[in-house]
Amino acid sequence: MKVITMLLMLVICLIPCLPVQAQDTQGDAAPAARNSDPVRYTRGLRLYQKNCAACHGRQGEGDPNWRQRDAQGKFLPPPLNGTGHTWHHPMAVLLDIILNGTARLGGNMPAWKGRLGEREIGDILYWVQSQWSDEIYRQWFENDRVVREEMRHN
Ligand code: HEC
Repeated sequence: MKVITMLLMLVICLIPCLPVQAQDTQGDAAPAARNSDPVRYTRGLRLYQKNCAACHGRQGEGDPNWRQRDAQGKFLPPPLNGTGHTWHHPMAVLLDIILNGTARLGGNMPAWKGRLGEREIGDILYWVQSQWSDEIYRQWFENDRVVREEMRHN
């Protein structure tokens, strides 16, 4: 009984540490430090080409008609390279879209939960963000920082 109580307490104490750990695996380096990790870049590039490029384009340029809906009323794959609005989404939202897809919202983005791990998705986003201009990345980073602060206080 005592052991179970101790284990429970250990788990409860570890929970607050988890989001911090998770952030290490995501492409959210401070503007000055971004693109500093060639290993993550290469891993992300490879995973992106294998899993995402067929829809979002080899350079993340998206479908030329991404602003329009297809015959079923669904949006075509948007650019991820900073020319669309992907950079308006904080990291938590990007992860949610990739993990859970958009079928539940009536969209065509597949869910990757169970197919890609969090580190792999983090590496893909690291590469995706390497395609953004410094200015776009800086604005994303600032927005993401504000959202992370809010999440910490809620
Ligand atoms: C079968 C085609 C397909 C594949 C493969 C695919 N996506 Fe998508 N993705 C879409 C579509 C379509 C949308 C738009 C969804 C909507 O509007 O509901 C989308 C949306 C997104 C968005 C939101 C973009 C924004 O500007 O709001 C992100 C981020 C994204 N995809 C990342 C990825 C990543 C990372 C991969 C690879 C792991 C991937 N996608 C693989 C079709 C795909």
